[in-house]
Amino acid sequence: MTIVGLPDTAVQEAKERVRSAIRNCGLTFPQKRITVNLAPADIRKEGPAYDLPIAIGIVIASQQVAADASSSLFLGELSLDGQVRHTHGILPMAALARERGIGSVFVPAADACEAALIEGVEIIPVASLGQLAAHLQGLAPIAPFDREAAAAPTAEPLWEGVDFCHIKGQEHVKRALEVAAAGGHNVLMSGPPGAGKTLLARALPSILPSMTSGEALEVTKVYSVSGLLPSDRPLISQRPFRSPHHTISNAGLVGGGRQPRPGEISLSHRGVLFLDELPEFGHSVLEAIRQPLEDRVVTVSRAQGNVTFPANFMLVGAMNPCPCGFWGDPTKECTCSPLTITRYQKRMSGPLLDRIDIFADVPRVEYEKLADDALGEHSEQVRQRVERARSRQQQRFAGTRLICNAEMTPLEVRQHCQGVLEDGAKSLLRLAMNQLALSARSFHRVLKLARTIADLAGSEAITTPHVAEALQYRQRGSG
Ligand SMILES: Nc1ncnc2c1ncn2[C@@H]1O[C@H](COP(=O)(O)OP(=O)(O)OP(=O)(O)O)[C@@H](O)[C@H]1O
Ligand SMILES: [Mg+2]
Repeated sequence: MTIVGLPDTAVQEAKERVRSAIRNCGLTFPQKRITVNLAPADIRKEGPAYDLPIAIGIVIASQQVAADASSSLFLGELSLDGQVRHTHGILPMAALARERGIGSVFVPAADACEAALIEGVEIIPVASLGQLAAHLQGLAPIAPFDREAAAAPTAEPLWEGVDFCHIKGQEHVKRALEVAAAGGHNVLMSGPPGAGKTLLARALPSILPSMTSGEALEVTKVYSVSGLLPSDRPLISQRPFRSPHHTISNAGLVGGGRQPRPGEISLSHRGVLFLDELPEFGHSVLEAIRQPLEDRVVTVSRAQGNVTFPANFMLVGAMNPCPCGFWGDPTKECTCSPLTITRYQKRMSGPLLDRIDIFADVPRVEYEKLADDALGEHSEQVRQRVERARSRQQQRFAGTRLICNAEMTPLEVRQHCQGVLEDGAKSLLRLAMNQLALSARSFHRVLKLARTIADLAGSEAITTPHVAEALQYRQRGSG
C-alpha cells in the first residue's frame, strides 16, 4: 500500500492503522497493490484525520460495502482496533463541508458536539469503523447527532479573573481599561514595581463584552485546529486572554513551525494578548507582531504554501519605566543612568509604540487607599457599560465586517468620527495636533478613541470632553 500526494509522517502511518483497523472489525484487507492518491498532489497533507476516509475508500473499492459516498465527508483518526478517535480541527472541516454543499459529515463520536456547531449539515457520530460499515450497508443505521438534545452549554467561565472591586485606587487606569475594552483599543501600562499593573491586566477579562455567536465560532475554530478545545465544551464563548512569557519564540507568538500552527496572537483572536514586562520580549518578537496588529490576520509562509490565521486581538502591555522601576516616581529615587533608561525604552521600537492607542501611567497606590476597606465598583457594572457601548458599535457597523471602533479604517473614521465632531472638539483637536506634533496614525487613533468614549457616554456626536479624554490617553508620562 502506498500513499501519494505529499503525505506527512502521520498520514504515512495511516497505512498501519487502516490495515489493522479493517482487519479488526471483521472486514478483509485486500491482498493486492493499493495506491491511495490524495489529490491535489501539490498540497501537503497533515495529521491523522485521513485514516477514516482512506479506510472507507478501500472498503468500498474492494466491494465489501456497497454505498454511495459521493455527498458525504468522512473524518477521523483510527486506532488499531478500529475505534474512531478524537481528532483536531473537526470544526473548520465541518464548516468547509457546508460551504461545499456536502450533505452529511461523519465525525468521531467524541467530536460530534463540536461539529454540530455548524448548522445546515447532518452530523453523524461514528464510534468505530465497524459501526460505520454497518451503517453504510444499511444494516444498523447510526442516528444523526441531535443538536437539540445536546445543547446544554456550560456557564462557568474558562478563565478565572480578578474583580475590579478588589483593586484599590488606580481609578484612571480602570477607566482607561474600560475604554479599551469598549472599543477594542491597545493599551500600554507603565509604572513602578508592585503598583498593580499585572493585577489590573488580569482583571480585564471580567469587563470584556460577551462574544457574538459569529465571533465565538471564529475563536473556536482556532482552538480546534490547535487541539486546545476542552472536550467538555465544544464552543468557546468567553473571550480569550493569553499571557505568554517573554521567553516565547517568534513561531510561538505569531504562529509557524514545520506544520504551521496558530501562535499566541491567533489564540488571542477576538480577545486579549497580554505581554507582561514588554521590554523583556525579544526585539524580533515584538517586530513580528507589528504587521498582524495592523492587518488583523497573520500569514505564515512555508515551502508548501501559505497559511493565514486570524489575529484580531487587543494588545495589552505592561512595563516598568526603567530597569530599576522608579523613574518618574515622586518619592523613591531612580538609580538608573540616563543611558540605561534610553536603552531600556529603545527595546520597543517607535512603530510598535505608534500602534498603542492608550498609554496609562500606573503610579504607586498611597497607603490611605490601600488600607481603605471599601470595595470599588464591581466588574459586572463596568461590563454593562462596555456592553452598551459595544451594541452601539454593532448597530453602526451592521452589514460590514467591522466589529469595534479600533478596527475602523480612515474611510470609516471620516464617516463616523470626523463627520460628527462638534465645533469645540474640532478646535481642540487642531490645537493638540499642532502642539503635540501627532502623526497621521495618531490623529486617527485619537478620533477612534474619542468615538469609543462618546459611545460609552451614549452620545452620537463627539464633543470637547470626549476629545480631551482621548488626548489624555495619548500622552506618555514618565514611561
Ligand atoms: N491597587 C491595588 N489594590 C490592591 N492590591 C494591590 C494593588 N496594587 C498592587 N496590589 C498588590 O500587589 C501585588 C503586586 O502587584 P502586581 O503584580 O500587579 O504589580 P506590578 O505592577 O505588575 O509589578 P511589577 O512591575 O513588579 O511586575 C498584587 O498581587 C496585589 O496583591
Ligand atoms: Mg507585573
